[in-house]
Amino acid sequence: MSTGLILGIESSCDETAAAVVRRGTETLSNVVASQIATHAPYGGVVPELASREHLRNIVPVVRTAVSEAGITLQDLDAIAVTEGPGLAGALLVGITYAKSLAYALNKPLIAVNHLEGHIHAVLLQQPQVESEPLPLPALALVVSGGHTHLYLAHRSGESWHYRNVGHTVDDAAGEAFDKVAKLLGLGYPGGPWIDALAPHGNPKAVPFSFAQIKPKVYRKNTRASQHERQFFFSFSGIKTAVLRYVQTHDLFAPIEVRRSALSQISHPKPADALPLCDEEALNLIASFQRAVVDDLRRKTFQAAEAFDAASILVSGGVAANRELRLRFAAEAAERKLPIAFPSLALSTDNAAMVAAAAWPKLLDKEYASPQLSAEPSLALGR
Ligand code: KG4
Ligand code: ZN
Repeated sequence: MSTGLILGIESSCDETAAAVVRRGTETLSNVVASQIATHAPYGGVVPELASREHLRNIVPVVRTAVSEAGITLQDLDAIAVTEGPGLAGALLVGITYAKSLAYALNKPLIAVNHLEGHIHAVLLQQPQVESEPLPLPALALVVSGGHTHLYLAHRSGESWHYRNVGHTVDDAAGEAFDKVAKLLGLGYPGGPWIDALAPHGNPKAVPFSFAQIKPKVYRKNTRASQHERQFFFSFSGIKTAVLRYVQTHDLFAPIEVRRSALSQISHPKPADALPLCDEEALNLIASFQRAVVDDLRRKTFQAAEAFDAASILVSGGVAANRELRLRFAAEAAERKLPIAFPSLALSTDNAAMVAAAAWPKLLDKEYASPQLSAEPSLALGR
């Protein structure tokens, strides 16, 4: 008899994660082994180290997820795993383990796109999914360390469909947070540090501007010759603008003082950096965050309008940002558009989102082949 229980496994980047979710909505366990401490000294994810850590963590993480859920492996209906996008070696650890488990237990294997997982992190938590669903189509912004994408998400029957209506042409927004934090002598990953320090500065102090890349209009080759717009983001320019500001305002010396003071602290936290930041540094941090958040907000709502979206959904690591949540929520309220974010724990990478995204696929019997392999550049939608 079907239990609706899916074990999700996620290993696309620097978190080894496993979770058990019932019928795509009820999280029984959600275990994440973070590799932040491993990669922090390098200021970014080192792919070889990530694969090694996944190998070390995958067995205990899956065992913990199953035991915390209070079930046995035999109770599962399916095993779901992230197929891509992500780091090839990292993805392969999760995929190989999931394949072996599915084979040994004689259970279906389901492949999940990591980006679809982020979208389902929100849908997983929508209250009363049946009685009060998020109105569709939803305009979904997936914004993380590796991705900045806009999707129009809709549903037919149990299946979800996505149309990619925007993306970054260079860095992801989270990458900009990480690189700017590194440049300013803050910790890794940079997003939570900038998030915590920004409220102490003046967001209007440094007028950063974004090159506006005009939305492209494609003429689709159909009889009705419909138009389709694409919205573009670019975050490499603001990173260079922060560097120029640091150079022209002679900020390298105070940055080095901060970097060295934080390196003396074991497991430094953003609160440790506050007394090490003067007004000028805090203003720079606040202005950077405001500029990025406003650019994300402007284009997301423009796209929602262009595509007649009935709701907004924001997900991915950067969706944990407090200023982003406030400013998106304010604009959504003004436009009377429902908006949804995942809880903070489900904003960053996790496996509950993978198990949740796999539920409609299980209902549709959309199983992966035994030849499933890592797809580092897997795209979502058309
Ligand atoms: O979704 P995620 O865990 O991994 C990827 O799929 O990339 O996102 C990690 C990214 C990092 O760039 C991190 O700095 C950013 O999310 N991030 C934040 C915050 N928390 C995490 N960015 C801004 N504000 C935050 N509070
Ligand atoms: Zn992610």
